[in-house]
Amino acid sequence: MAGVWRCMLAVVVLMCVCLWGSTEAVGGAKSRPRPQRRPRKKPKVDPIDLTPPTQNIDIQQMTGIWYLLNTASKCSYLIKHGSKVEPTVMNLTFSAASDQTLSVTTKTRHGHQCWEILQVYHLTSTPGQLTLKGVRPELNTDIVIGDTDYSSYAIMFYQKLGKITVKLYGRSVDNLSEPLLTKFEQLAEKQGFGLAYVFPFPTYSHCGHVDQDHKINCVPAC
Ligand SMILES: *[C@@H]1O[C@H](CO)[C@@H](O)[C@H](O)[C@H]1NC(C)=O
Ligand SMILES: *[C@@H]1O[C@H](CO)[C@@H](O)[C@H](O)[C@H]1NC(C)=O
Repeated sequence: MAGVWRCMLAVVVLMCVCLWGSTEAVGGAKSRPRPQRRPRKKPKVDPIDLTPPTQNIDIQQMTGIWYLLNTASKCSYLIKHGSKVEPTVMNLTFSAASDQTLSVTTKTRHGHQCWEILQVYHLTSTPGQLTLKGVRPELNTDIVIGDTDYSSYAIMFYQKLGKITVKLYGRSVDNLSEPLLTKFEQLAEKQGFGLAYVFPFPTYSHCGHVDQDHKINCVPAC
């Protein structure tokens, strides 16, 4: 029961934050009358297919703490609140239960409180490609570790419902180099994100301890 309540609380307090982006997009598309679809000129290319891992990712070396430094996305939540994004830090660990899943905890602030979002990424047969399962397969998030040196940065692609988000993570907050930022911006640009869709995250005031009742399961859209 406590678990259910926690979920409900999550829905009210944070899921809204997490899901508004996607539900709005889906609902909006549905309620509007659809213009007649023109025949496609060329077969649709799944954007994530354009961004395969550029190296043979050693997932073992990806574990540990990653600070979110930058996000490129057209997610409506970010577009509305991008100037007020909160410091966000992710901890990747292998699950005790299985070496085919990663436990992902993301700490962030919402309403002046620290929250810890718990997720599970499933490994796939392709190194560097992971899946965050949705309630239905079409709501899965495909995750690609596009580029990393394991020790200072990682660029990750997230794709859900045909929409892509590119995130730049750092092992620390204070040595993001200019060339790396440029590299990220160029990768984002390749996905159609001009600078207006690039949202830098704060590099200070990350959450430390999070109370048990602020640990929730949630699928962020951005
Ligand atoms: C990351 O998660 C692991 C497993 O839960 C934990 O042992 C470790 O202390 C965490 N690291 C930090 C810095 O919170
Ligand atoms: C950035 O800082 C981290 C931690 O202090 C260090 O391990 C890493 O080597 C540094 N990277 C660069 C490119 O200076």
